[in-house]
Amino acid sequence: MLGRRLIFSRVIVVYVKVSDRELRLLRPLPVFLLFTGSLEDGNVDVMALSWVTPISKKKRELGFVVEKGNYSWVLLRDYPWFTIAVPDSSQADLVKYVGTRSRREVDKISATGIKLEPWEGDERIPFPLGFMGVLIGRVSRTVDFDSSTMFVGKVVAAYVEDGVYDGDKGWIVERRKPVLHLSKHYFTYPCGRDGVVNTRWGIGVKKPWRSIYKTSD
Ligand SMILES: Cc1cc2nc3c(=O)[nH]c(=O)nc-3n(C[C@H](O)[C@H](O)[C@H](O)COP(=O)(O)O)c2cc1C
Repeated sequence: MLGRRLIFSRVIVVYVKVSDRELRLLRPLPVFLLFTGSLEDGNVDVMALSWVTPISKKKRELGFVVEKGNYSWVLLRDYPWFTIAVPDSSQADLVKYVGTRSRREVDKISATGIKLEPWEGDERIPFPLGFMGVLIGRVSRTVDFDSSTMFVGKVVAAYVEDGVYDGDKGWIVERRKPVLHLSKHYFTYPCGRDGVVNTRWGIGVKKPWRSIYKTSD
């Protein structure tokens, strides 16, 4: 019919209930490597880490959750600092390895050949080489849960490999792509700026209410 525009059409979608692994619906999640422990004491570990969230831009705070059974949890309790490395998609194998084995059974740093240097700000803190980004932080508080702990920390230094990061646009994925975890041994990566990531809304405009409701945090 002329002059009429179809504005609504009912599409029947069949949903199937998932009764286990519900949290997997939140994936893919970015995955990082978490380095803990002290170079001075020769006790350093690395594990895969997806449960990370920014908390405060102003205070440069983030939180990450580590299960209590992980050896990294023991090290975080003893040494209140951490290093988070951003691996790229070619390092998915490495992520899988350190995310499925424990320091309790194997020294993953030696087994994987990851090179560590003392961080320039504190020689005890490991600085891993070969990653597109590295954040160094200090634990400021913890939130306890039944089987895990959220460690809240302030980022005290952050580094990016030269030529792979643009302060405005973020990772230059044509050079190195961050890796995302889908499920089990399935990983994926962002497709690039020409893909679906460009939205029609364009550049975000600062709304006045954003500063009205801003807290001192
Ligand atoms: C992709 C991926 C992401 C993971 N994310 C987390 C996480 O955020 N928190 C956590 O406690 N364990 C996570 N794990 C599991 C740990 O990396 C794993 O238990 C590891 O063996 C712990 O090593 P550790 O005992 O040497 O600390 C993840 C594993 C994989 C493969």
